[in-house]
Amino acid sequence: MPEFAAQPVPPMRIAFDAAAATLSPEGPTLTRRMSDLEGLFADHDAWRDAAEGENPVVYSVVSSPVPEEDRELPQSITTIQPGTTGGEFWMTKGHQHPNHQGEIYLGLHGAGGLLMFDGERTEWIDMAPGVIGYIPPGWAHRSVNVGDEPYSFLAVYPGGAGHDYGWVLEHGMGHRVIAGDSGFSLTDYTR
Ligand code: 6PG
Ligand code: NI
Repeated sequence: MPEFAAQPVPPMRIAFDAAAATLSPEGPTLTRRMSDLEGLFADHDAWRDAAEGENPVVYSVVSSPVPEEDRELPQSITTIQPGTTGGEFWMTKGHQHPNHQGEIYLGLHGAGGLLMFDGERTEWIDMAPGVIGYIPPGWAHRSVNVGDEPYSFLAVYPGGAGHDYGWVLEHGMGHRVIAGDSGFSLTDYTR
């Protein structure tokens, strides 16, 4: 038997319902409301009005019981609600994995996008049910709901990767995803 600093969890069966966007058994669930997204939307006044008003749930992240520990491989399902703030589609905070490790997303429901930024280059992947989006090490990533129904995806990532949210606040994400007459467009990241 190999030796581990933290004991791995036992092998487990996790039921995955793509249509309902659930994992069972379930681990921790994270809910992010508008007030949790300070400094991310270009239109700060529109963000403040929404955060101080109804303060809606923008997205939630349901995890399996596999822990975020080195050498484990946790999974989670993110569901982003449809909506815009100051013309910008609702989105996740976005982060960099400080240990620079890769991650995969699998689209489950709705219409979304995977925005990636390495500090210089921006990449965008249209996400839909059945699409795998691959995030290479060193690319910050943010998910965006560009449709009018909830957008859900499964994420699988190394448990020791960590989450650096400050990197995105400092460097931005290269582009913003703006609602237009015919869907969405990517614009420069002006603050
Ligand atoms: C991860 C995944 C993913 C992400 C959520 C919420 O590394 O765990 O990228 O599960 O955390 O989609 O996005 P934020 O972490 O940017 O809020
Ligand atoms: Ni990630």
